[in-house]
Amino acid sequence: MPFQVVPTAGAVLEQVLSDTHPLWGDGLSRDNYAKAWVAQLKTPWGQQHLDRVALVDGPHVMCSAKRYDLSVRFDGRIRRVLGIGAVFTPPAHRGRGCARELLTRLLDTAVTEGQEFAMLFSEIAPAFYEQLDFVPVPLVESTIEVDQKRGGAPAMLVRSGDDRDLPAIAEMSAARGKNARLVLDRNEDFIRFNITRQRLHSGLAPSGLRTTEFLVVEEGHQAVAYLVCTEEAGRWMIEEAGDRDPSGARLGAMLQVMLARHPGERLPEIKGWWPKALIPPQLKVAAITPTQSVLMIRPLRDRMLPLPPLAAAEVVYWHADYF
Ligand SMILES: CC(C)(COP(=O)(O)OP(=O)(O)OC[C@H]1O[C@@H](n2cnc3c(N)ncnc32)[C@H](O)[C@@H]1OP(=O)(O)O)[C@@H](O)C(=O)NCCC(=O)NCCS
Repeated sequence: MPFQVVPTAGAVLEQVLSDTHPLWGDGLSRDNYAKAWVAQLKTPWGQQHLDRVALVDGPHVMCSAKRYDLSVRFDGRIRRVLGIGAVFTPPAHRGRGCARELLTRLLDTAVTEGQEFAMLFSEIAPAFYEQLDFVPVPLVESTIEVDQKRGGAPAMLVRSGDDRDLPAIAEMSAARGKNARLVLDRNEDFIRFNITRQRLHSGLAPSGLRTTEFLVVEEGHQAVAYLVCTEEAGRWMIEEAGDRDPSGARLGAMLQVMLARHPGERLPEIKGWWPKALIPPQLKVAAITPTQSVLMIRPLRDRMLPLPPLAAAEVVYWHADYF
């Protein structure tokens, strides 16, 4: 094929944004969808680890995708991982091998750039990606019920989180993932990127559609528990959370405080991609289902390398890190 892979900029980027906005706009106007993308690229992590590429035939965009340079700890070793997101072929060009071609070229480039694995979330039946040697990673979403029966909200100061909390959050994140077999290596810049991304997603949406809260509990001027929660249509998604206390008791109390702020209203449905080992005593898991999008992974250099089977309980992956 005479096709070329190019970074998206100018007219190509405008085309890709117009093509993908109806599917992934998530309530944002076309202009704000573009603003959210440009702003993500301006964050310190985004500048270095995120771009969008297109397979073009002259002026025609045949397919496009986002590319993330991630760091993952897999069976005790830190690996650089290519994350692929938002694969899109305009309807007129579908079924001609364009997505396969773009993915193959991205995988080849990743090998030369020293990445060891590739990961993606499949929103379609995984067979397409299985043909490219990706295998599913089990990942579950839990619906949580919070015990509110213990004499009102706990007397605990919960404040908005900000930049100064990130070192403590990165520490909590690392401690929580210590025993997992597959876990993202989340440094401060990456955590900041994800919180910024969610805030943009909420802040640029029409008023009242979605809110994102970043809350912490501190002790001795240091964050000791935190959570990032997105609320939409009566549903809370706990994007990420942590607690220095292994039992997660402060995190549970934070959720009780948050619920006490909504007296009389219908209780929200609370979901999260909770690590199995972090269920605070105030919470009960009411349901566990596989995540709607399927996380998939493949080794890059040695395609024959069998991946040791993983169980959901061995994976720590927050919804915040969904790409
Ligand atoms: C999925 C998509 C990227 C495929 O692009 P494409 O250029 O047509 O892909 P290719 O020609 O390389 O491969 C076609 C194969 O894709 C797979 N495929 C396409 N759409 C699919 C879907 N909705 N569900 C499952 N598999 C699908 C099929 O295996 C198909 O093979 P077939 O033509 O023999 O049936 C394209 O349909 C698209 O942009 N869809 C909307 C966005 C989307 O869902 N992206 C995937 C996010 S994970």
